[in-house]
Amino acid sequence: MIFTVAIDGPAAAGKGTLSRAVADRFGLAHLDTGLLYRAVGARGGDPVAAARDLTPQDLLRDDLRTLEAGQAASRAAAIPEVRAALVDFQRRFARAEGGAVLDGRDIGTVICPEAEVKLYVTASPEVRAHRRWLEVGGDEARVLAEVLERDARDMGRADAPLKPAPDAVLIDTSALTVDAALAAALSVVAARLQDGSDRSESP
Ligand code: DC
Repeated sequence: MIFTVAIDGPAAAGKGTLSRAVADRFGLAHLDTGLLYRAVGARGGDPVAAARDLTPQDLLRDDLRTLEAGQAASRAAAIPEVRAALVDFQRRFARAEGGAVLDGRDIGTVICPEAEVKLYVTASPEVRAHRRWLEVGGDEARVLAEVLERDARDMGRADAPLKPAPDAVLIDTSALTVDAALAAALSVVAARLQDGSDRSESP
């Protein structure tokens, strides 16, 4: 079975939690594509060379989740040659036999426009900053400023900017519990899987 779930949205909207849970529930492989850009930013030096030479070990660094790594990733991700170097790996992962969930910014728009399910997961900047602050601590106003800065860069870049695909299902998690957001995501994926199996069974 080839079946891709594309989950896009801004930083700290809840994509990671939803993606892992959807992958677990339906037995799909999962790729957090933000980690690729974080690993490129964390390598330092020339980001294009880093993207071209990226190895699985780079994704295992324990400093990829910090605010600084997020900012470095967002800056590296605005460079078209960096994005180009990472496209093939993501496309192969998305269309590999067995099915896959990929979360990021451009999965439904650029990496896999043919994805069977596209979700756009979002929340207000204040809610996202509060959630991120609960994880990282420090000054909440600074966390909000980082979120807004990263949104502006990710949505404003010329190459593959963050935006919902026209056929994406929008899930705004601002006022949803994790369980409610997950129920919404699971029901979209389950309906699409059912749809596919009905079609393959019909004479
Ligand atoms: O999802 P994240 O916060 O780990 O992503 C870090 C940065 O990487 C994000 O600010 C923009 C970039 N990114 C991207 O441009 N395209 C993706 N598919 C995933 C992440």
